[in-house]
Amino acid sequence: MTGLLDLTGKNALVTGIANNRSIAWGIAQQLHQAGANLAITYLPDDRDRTKGKVEELTAPLNPAMLLPCNVQDDDQIAALYAQVQEKWEKLDILIHCLAFANKEDITGSFVDISRSGFQLALDVSSYSLIALCRGARPLMTAGGSVVTLTYIGGVKVIPNYNVMGIAKAALEMNVRYLAADLGPQNIRVNGISAGPIRTLASSAVGDILKMMHYAEKVAPLRRLVSQQEVGNVAAFLASDLASCVTGQIIYADCGYEVMGSGLVEAQKD
Ligand SMILES: NC(=O)c1ccc[n+]([C@@H]2O[C@H](COP(=O)([O-])OP(=O)(O)OC[C@H]3O[C@@H](n4cnc5c(N)ncnc54)[C@H](O)[C@@H]3O)[C@@H](O)[C@H]2O)c1
Repeated sequence: MTGLLDLTGKNALVTGIANNRSIAWGIAQQLHQAGANLAITYLPDDRDRTKGKVEELTAPLNPAMLLPCNVQDDDQIAALYAQVQEKWEKLDILIHCLAFANKEDITGSFVDISRSGFQLALDVSSYSLIALCRGARPLMTAGGSVVTLTYIGGVKVIPNYNVMGIAKAALEMNVRYLAADLGPQNIRVNGISAGPIRTLASSAVGDILKMMHYAEKVAPLRRLVSQQEVGNVAAFLASDLASCVTGQIIYADCGYEVMGSGLVEAQKD
């Protein structure tokens, strides 16, 4: 890779690849193309089915490591960083691209969210950024860049997004506090607020297809964003081109965020 965006020699830990629709897959591809070395995590399951799928998918990117990590388990996070340290000694880039909520908490009535469902969504989707940053900090000896994924439903009410909206609001505030805390070590922390993309996670959100259809009509660019485009923004944030950017949420949504609501009719070409 030559040119302005060069990640050659940078070590990147990428979480959140489940399949070829995952946003993290788009990010991993763009980081690889920019020259980064990759360590990839997968969510372990009883029969290691996810491991096999992720291994096959990511093989063309020659990852240096493929490691299990359930972010709800502190021991797994510790084991992950121990292996990264052993192999690489230093880490430059951390991609946090994961979330989870019970199906019943991302559809239907907001007031019905259970205490346990709230805790689960916030733990996996928001606290995990803090836990992963804590593990990454001692390895980011030459500074670093942390990138997480958020959604406009953390700022505005989006039908059915419900508990995940709360998790994303907390995640976006985590970005700011972590940026302030880790900035003196030249570790930057930013979020990408991506427009809707069809993935395993988004398909669990009630009426997501309607939302995508609406976004496509309303967004200034009159289309949806792709995984690869989100990957490009992540690669930029990971690179020295973004050396003065931290604590920010960057919208990668074809401009949807700037529009007022109820404008579909008004925008018919
Ligand atoms: N798809 C969209 O429309 C959209 C828009 C904006 C933001 N996002 C965000 O992008 C991120 C990635 O989601 P995606 O849409 O690519 O879906 P995805 O289903 O492909 O990815 C979600 C990932 O979270 C992982 N995960 C869930 N629970 C975990 C746990 N306990 N430990 C470790 N990993 C766990 C899954 O294994 C999976 O890899 C999420 O934070 C999501 O909220 C998605």
